Amino acid sequence: MSPIDAFRLSEAAARKYQDHSVPAMFAPLADATAKRLNLPANGHILDVACGTGALTRAILEHLPGQGRVVGADLNQSMIDVARSMTKRTVHSVEWVASDVTALPLDDQSFDLACIQQGLQFFPDKPAALAEIHRVLKPSGHLSLTCWRAISPFNNALAEALATFVSDSAAQKARAPFSFRDGDVITSLLQDAGFSVATHDGIILQRRFEDLRAQVLALPVEQDMRAKGEAVIDQVIDDIAARLAPYSQDGVFIVPQEAHFFVATRA
Ligand SMILES: C[S@@+](CC[C@H](N)C(=O)[O-])C[C@H]1O[C@@H](n2cnc3c(N)ncnc32)[C@H](O)[C@@H]1O
Repeated sequence: MSPIDAFRLSEAAARKYQDHSVPAMFAPLADATAKRLNLPANGHILDVACGTGALTRAILEHLPGQGRVVGADLNQSMIDVARSMTKRTVHSVEWVASDVTALPLDDQSFDLACIQQGLQFFPDKPAALAEIHRVLKPSGHLSLTCWRAISPFNNALAEALATFVSDSAAQKARAPFSFRDGDVITSLLQDAGFSVATHDGIILQRRFEDLRAQVLALPVEQDMRAKGEAVIDQVIDDIAARLAPYSQDGVFIVPQEAHFFVATRA
């Protein structure tokens, strides 16, 4: 199985991602990102690895004038949910199911490209950034967020999975945090023909109102289900015990930190 095929998601997985992970984490991150970006009036904006469109929708909400916004993602299932979630707007909106390294988009056609929590999953990162460079106008910008530290939640999840499920499930839980060295990201951007305009951080407070449902919405669901209900209970209890310092009135509120880069196309 190629690294790309390993990332194919079912319709049910895309829906769970939208119902649980987006409200808890990706929508707040998208909102913080869109507010920090200087969105150009009537701009042409590309959201790469858009998933179910959390950032695409935040951009549509904050973009002045009448622009063009394109959401592109490898998974047709994510694109289908993104399209179904997005209301009519004054802007032109397009959805594209495509690998980041082969975008069916014209050269130099966007003012701004965004990647929210996608870079770490691209098997060929230099090729991905070269393709984004191709579709950006000269002096266009790239906005990028990528987790800066493994969150206490994912640490707890990985430890519980390693104890009760398998090492490969624990590895999956850590995968989104696998690419977090800011200097390495800076070098990748520079090698692809970008200069880093700003680099700072965004810290979110991720809420777990229903820990069990939120854990079972993650890609490790099948690994846990394969072990049976009793093991799922053990995993959830173990995570809850590890997250006890973050418990407030029955809700876990856990910090999660992201790099936030804005780079300019040379
Ligand atoms: C953690 S999700 C982030 C989605 C979205 N940006 C958000 O904030 O909700 C990672 C996304 O990267 C997409 N992805 C992974 N590999 C990709 C590739 N090679 N080309 C395009 N998209 C890819 C996945 O389909 C998934 O939707």
